[in-house]
Amino acid sequence: MTRPVLLVQSGGEAALPEWQRHFAAAGAEVEVRWWDDPAVAPASVRYALVWDPPHGRLAGYPNLRVIFGSGAGVDFIASDPALPRHLPLVRMATAGAAQRMGEFVAWAVLSLLRGARRIGLAQGEGRWDYFDTERTAPETTIGIMGLGHMGGAAARMLVGLGFQVIGWSRTRKDLPGVRSHVGEAERDRFLAASDILVCLLPATPETRGLLAAPLIARLPDGAGLINVGRGSQQRIGDILAALDAGKLSGAVLDVFEAEPLPAGHPAWAHPKLIVTPHVASLPPRSERAAHVAALIAAHERGEALPNTYDHDRGY
Ligand SMILES: NC(=O)c1ccc[n+]([C@@H]2O[C@H](COP(=O)([O-])OP(=O)(O)OC[C@H]3O[C@@H](n4cnc5c(N)ncnc54)[C@H](OP(=O)(O)O)[C@@H]3O)[C@@H](O)[C@H]2O)c1
Repeated sequence: MTRPVLLVQSGGEAALPEWQRHFAAAGAEVEVRWWDDPAVAPASVRYALVWDPPHGRLAGYPNLRVIFGSGAGVDFIASDPALPRHLPLVRMATAGAAQRMGEFVAWAVLSLLRGARRIGLAQGEGRWDYFDTERTAPETTIGIMGLGHMGGAAARMLVGLGFQVIGWSRTRKDLPGVRSHVGEAERDRFLAASDILVCLLPATPETRGLLAAPLIARLPDGAGLINVGRGSQQRIGDILAALDAGKLSGAVLDVFEAEPLPAGHPAWAHPKLIVTPHVASLPPRSERAAHVAALIAAHERGEALPNTYDHDRGY
C-alpha cells in the first residue's frame, strides 16, 4: 500500500534526509518528500510541514488534510491569500519549545540586569570595566506582553528566579505569581510598571509596529526591552533612538523586520543592544518530527488537533 506523502519545506533541501530519519524513528506512517520534488504527484500529498511556503502553493494539493507550521509562529503561512483556510494549520507548540523560550528570556533578562553587553564590549577591548549592579531580581518587574504557550513558560521561569512578573494578554490569566493585565484599558498601567519589557506576542495587524516611540514613552525611564516575538512588531529606528537618549538602558532583539539583519545595519554595533539571529526557541528536528508524527497519528485516528491557528483571531 502506498503511504501518504508529507511534504517538507523547512531547513532547506539538504535537511530532508535528517527529517526522513527522524520521522522514521518516530514511526510515522508517511513518505517524507522535499517540497520541490517534481516526482511527487500533488494528489498524493496529505500533510505539509512548512516554514514560509511561497504563496499559492498549498492550494495546489487537492488531498491535503493538515498543514503543520515548523515554528510556533505561523504568520508566514497564514499570510498566503490562497491558503486553504478550511484545513487545520497547526503551530509547533512543543513543551521543548516553551522550555527553550523560557531559558532564552531568562538569559536575556539577566543579561540586561547584569550589563552583559557592557561586559562583552570591555572584554573585547581587554579593559577592566568595574561597575555596580543597580538592582536585584526581587527589585525588578518584568512585563511580558503575550502570556501564551511561550510567554507563560517565560513567566514561570522568571518567577522562579525571584523577579516580580506581570503580564499583558487579550484574556485574563491566572498564573502563579503573575499579575495579569488585559487589553487596551490596562496596557498603560502594565507598561508603566515594566522595568524590563518582553514581547512574546504573535504577528497580527494589532501588534504590527507596536514596539515604537509611543509605547517606549510609557515605560519607566531606563527600562530594558526584549523582543522575541516578530520583527514586524518593532520599529528599530525608534528603539535605537531610545537607547541613545537613555530612555531605554538596554535591549535584546532576536527578531528583525528583514532577516538576516543586513551587514552594516546600525543595530549590529550598538553598545547597548544585544543582537541574536532569531534563535530564541527552535526545538531540534528530532523533537519536531516526533511531535508532528504523534499529531499525524492522532489525526488518522480522527482526534482533534491542538494548537491550531484561528483565522478570525489572527494567531
Ligand atoms: N524568536 C523565536 O525564536 C520565536 C520562537 C517561537 C515563537 N516566537 C513568537 O512568539 C509568538 C507567541 O508564541 P506562543 O506560542 O506563545 O503564541 P500563543 O500561545 O498564541 O500566545 C499568544 C499570546 O499573545 C496574546 N495576544 C495576542 N494578540 C494580542 C493582543 N492584540 N493584545 C494582547 N495580547 C495579545 C494572547 O492572548 P490570549 O492568551 O488572551 O489569547 C496570548 O497570550 C509567536 O507567534 C512567534 O511570533 C518567536
